[in-house]
Amino acid sequence: MVKFPSDFIWGAACAAYQCEGAWDEDGKGPGIWDDFCHELNGHHVNNGDSGDVACDSYHRYREDVALMKAHNLRAYRFSISWPRVIPDGDGEVNEAGLAYYDALLDELIANGIEPMITLYHWDLPSALQRKGGWQNPQIVDWFARYARIIAQRFKGRVKWYMTINEAQCITFLGYGIGTHAPGLKLPEEELARIYHHIALSHSAAMRAIKQVAGESVQVGFVPCGNLCYPQADTPEGREAAYRASFEYGDRWGFNFNIVLDSLVLKRYDDTVPAVVKKFAATIPASDWELMEAPDFIGINVYQGQMVDAQGKAVPKPAGYPLTACKWPITPAVMHYGPMNVHRRYRLPIIISENGLSCNDVEFLDGRVHDPDRVNYLHRYISELSRAVQEGVPVFGYLHWSFLDNFEWSSGYDERFGLIFVDYATQRRIPKDSAGWYARVIETNGECLNV
Ligand code: NOJ
Repeated sequence: MVKFPSDFIWGAACAAYQCEGAWDEDGKGPGIWDDFCHELNGHHVNNGDSGDVACDSYHRYREDVALMKAHNLRAYRFSISWPRVIPDGDGEVNEAGLAYYDALLDELIANGIEPMITLYHWDLPSALQRKGGWQNPQIVDWFARYARIIAQRFKGRVKWYMTINEAQCITFLGYGIGTHAPGLKLPEEELARIYHHIALSHSAAMRAIKQVAGESVQVGFVPCGNLCYPQADTPEGREAAYRASFEYGDRWGFNFNIVLDSLVLKRYDDTVPAVVKKFAATIPASDWELMEAPDFIGINVYQGQMVDAQGKAVPKPAGYPLTACKWPITPAVMHYGPMNVHRRYRLPIIISENGLSCNDVEFLDGRVHDPDRVNYLHRYISELSRAVQEGVPVFGYLHWSFLDNFEWSSGYDERFGLIFVDYATQRRIPKDSAGWYARVIETNGECLNV
């Protein structure tokens, strides 16, 4: 039986660079994603796409908020573009940039939609990258100052912050293998350093937000990694899935625990790879005292790995269901993922993202029918209800994404939205899933009981 608490928060999410456009308007400075998309004749990104225009939400936010309201959204998670509000990252504040977010916030609040702000969703000001970006220990002060400016301005209007989105993608994809901005391929020691700077930056920003906006403001952190679920739901299976979820494998940087252990447990565990151990030996003891456990953890859930009772990955059979971008569809990760993260860290959880890309097209009747998305969401949200009923404190679910948008190095090839965007005209068409999700919200999930 699908059931959620009556105060469960239902919403959707997006990020500045992926939907705003207006990349150089009203005093905005350049960010690393602007540079990454523009350099090498657009070679880094499919079709040479960029976020220059994206969904043009910078100019169309009223229309977008009206659509959110029409689809019953209770919360909207969006990110602030750091270079829009502080063009060079640590210098003068751009009043026009702040005014845009003022207007967006007011529009959301007037429509009864709770704003949830992500401070960093990957668009670092280019000027800071020229000083080393996340490699430079000064990032901690730059980020804390930025957080303080935002928290001060939006004091009393924003109760929810998420400091840094997917630290693992920032580090591993951006600085490790270079498929994301800033496109660097650094040695592993440097990645260990970046992870540590991210932990310190979250902590300093969290202190700054609470100082200016008050202790009751909730500050979260959003990591990502490889969540595992058991092949058979036995005590041994569950235990194996738990252990496997926090193992450092070859891609040691792509783990939930790499930053969260620092923040919450204030240490690296014994199984951490040698390169991190070596780096950890150089960390002054005082750094550990600065670590701030977040008030909640945001988990972005897309896919997981099935493991057997020994914790070994179970290969997917031929013809296994995949999304349009070929990610396996694994609803059980929505049950065991939050459960395992909670077991290790004992903090409240929000599903800060969940969704899929589909080959969405306009049909002859002028509508966008996306039964694959409805089927996927029905399965995932039902599994989430199991976690909640087993006592995992998940307090909300945010669909990724509200609108189709710029999917990083895939450009506009992947459509993750509940609302279809015709990029040539910027026309929005609610997909069938948008109406379906509106009903899920209206019935607090009860309509999923079929
Ligand atoms: C996670 C990221 O936070 C978001 O920016 C991205 O679009 C989605 N995953 C889908 O890949």
